[in-house]
Amino acid sequence: MRSHYCGQLNETLVDQTVTLCGWVHRRRDHGGVIFLDMRDRDGIAQVVVDPDTAEAFANADRARSEFVLRIQGRVRLRPEGTQNPNMPTGMIEVLARDVDVLNTAATPPFQLDEHGKVGEEVRLKHRYIDLRRPEMIEKLRLRSRITHSVRAFLEGQGFLDIETPILTRATPEGARDYLVPSRTHAGNFFALPQSPQLFKQLLMVSGLDRYYQIARCFRDEDLRADRQPEFTQIDIEASFVDEDDIMAVTESMIRQLFRDVLAVELPEFPRMPYDEAMNRFGSDKPDLRIPLELTDVDDLMQRVDFKVFSGPAKADDGRVAALKVPGGATLSRKEIDEYTKFVGIYGAKGLAWIKVNERARGLEGLQSPIVKFMEDVVEELLDRLGAEDGDIIFFGADKARIVNEAIGALRVRLGEDLDLYTRRWAPLWVVDFPMFEDDGSARMQALHHPFTAPSCDVEALKANPIAALSRAYDMVLNGTELGGGSIRIHDPAMQRAVLEVLGIDEHEAREKFGFLLDALQYGAPPHGGLAFGLDRLVMLMSGARTIREVIAFPKTQSAACLMTDAPGEVSGEQLRELNIRLRQKAKAEVAGE
Ligand code: AMO
Ligand code: AMP
Repeated sequence: MRSHYCGQLNETLVDQTVTLCGWVHRRRDHGGVIFLDMRDRDGIAQVVVDPDTAEAFANADRARSEFVLRIQGRVRLRPEGTQNPNMPTGMIEVLARDVDVLNTAATPPFQLDEHGKVGEEVRLKHRYIDLRRPEMIEKLRLRSRITHSVRAFLEGQGFLDIETPILTRATPEGARDYLVPSRTHAGNFFALPQSPQLFKQLLMVSGLDRYYQIARCFRDEDLRADRQPEFTQIDIEASFVDEDDIMAVTESMIRQLFRDVLAVELPEFPRMPYDEAMNRFGSDKPDLRIPLELTDVDDLMQRVDFKVFSGPAKADDGRVAALKVPGGATLSRKEIDEYTKFVGIYGAKGLAWIKVNERARGLEGLQSPIVKFMEDVVEELLDRLGAEDGDIIFFGADKARIVNEAIGALRVRLGEDLDLYTRRWAPLWVVDFPMFEDDGSARMQALHHPFTAPSCDVEALKANPIAALSRAYDMVLNGTELGGGSIRIHDPAMQRAVLEVLGIDEHEAREKFGFLLDALQYGAPPHGGLAFGLDRLVMLMSGARTIREVIAFPKTQSAACLMTDAPGEVSGEQLRELNIRLRQKAKAEVAGE
């Protein structure tokens, strides 16, 4: 039906006849002449309709916003003074000969260029209209280019694209499962995969050697700006490899991707042990664009007469950390109060600070609610931090976990608020994660997942599990965990030892993933892999603020789809077939009582 996309028109087509198909972006009546801004996937072109083409004029006259038109006409240069250099097609226009109305449109719930005036809810409810916005189309186009580049790279490296089941058993990635009731096996349920983890390991046992999949994953967890209940991984696994092999190939993939799609040459990917990341940045996904660091001051604070500080400084699981912000002494009281509230979200009980107004004047030159408690150590403190006039120093004192989370988050927030970024892209690998974490519950938890290989042997693992490190690695970009993976356990004895530490007994292990334990006994090669979060990758590369913006049909923070109204009720008959009876309370809620 069309000869060109609207956005493709330019001066080289002057005097040619073109046929455009698209939507009326805007219609203007200029004293007898009608201007139509026609929009399609590729851009916007200006169409002029004269009254001398009577039929075309009549059709253009009844066209309204978002009507679907087919237009045939001649490309001509815009008259001097009416050119628009800000628009790719701004030098030309199309003088229409024929205007066909292919479809009418009801008044849209919002004008595309006024989408900011309506809430995200309205846009999600009418997502098909929201996706007409050029910025949204650009993001989806970028997403397609990204998956294309990734596929081309991996195919070139001998990886095979293999699909794995969606209706499956629970996979232990640590989130809640989405369950699907089985009609043919009354009372039994499938789980949607939290990742293809177990299947990709089985493919390695099968000898497929190099696997990848752009795989949909499902996790019923608390949502945030960078999480969706249904998301996509670039999932990778390979056999006869070690950590360096996997990191090398996936790093090359990401480098190639940035070259292909953004023409960006990424800098070095430093490797940072988990411990160092926590100590220096309070986070296992540090944003290295921000030049602020946490400094340990436990030894100094053990000596002060301020229990809030000396307590955690002396405690085994405590930490007192200082964060120096150059130039931060200009922060107002109100701003500091705001930051105090902010760290409270992470459980911090306060946010102490020292403003360094004039170091040369000693204590006189400092301004602070706490300096009176630490007069003896303050010079040593300022020396250690290299504090200069104009700086502010923030302090967190608590359990190390709280200090890291609170001051780590404050660091990121200050980086953003004060625009401290030193560069556009800051990738790194975080390595040497602990195998297990003790979250205070009865059982130890796997920091990654239970199939991750430790870097020690079975005896050392059993002797001191909490000290064991894993062969896991995360790729971090600008403070976002882009992907994570590990070398897996391929030895049944080691797998048994890890499950034992996790408190998963033989019976539970067999029930949950007996098939994997079996497979390990039939000649499993050494193997490992990694999975990237595609949505997060597209979010970072497109500059979007949430992953909802780079998913065509995302879900809300409460894991619902406003457009289709999913999840929805089902009929009594469907439930009967599935042998499911709703509890009275749920029924009442469904009935809106
Ligand atoms: P992991 O659980 O770390 O590892 O997931 C890999 C990557 O997937 C992305 N991601 C998400 N993106 C959007 N919404 C979510 N709810 C969400 N959850 C995770 C993140 C994360 O880095 N099987 C292992 C990988 C492996 O070991 O090979 C796994 O799934 O970017
Ligand atoms: P207070 O003695 O409670 O008035 O606290 C003095 C200063 O220490 C205030 O600026 C508090 O915000 C700060 N503060 C209190 N508890 C902590 C803590 N756990 N970590 C860091 N600063 C704190």
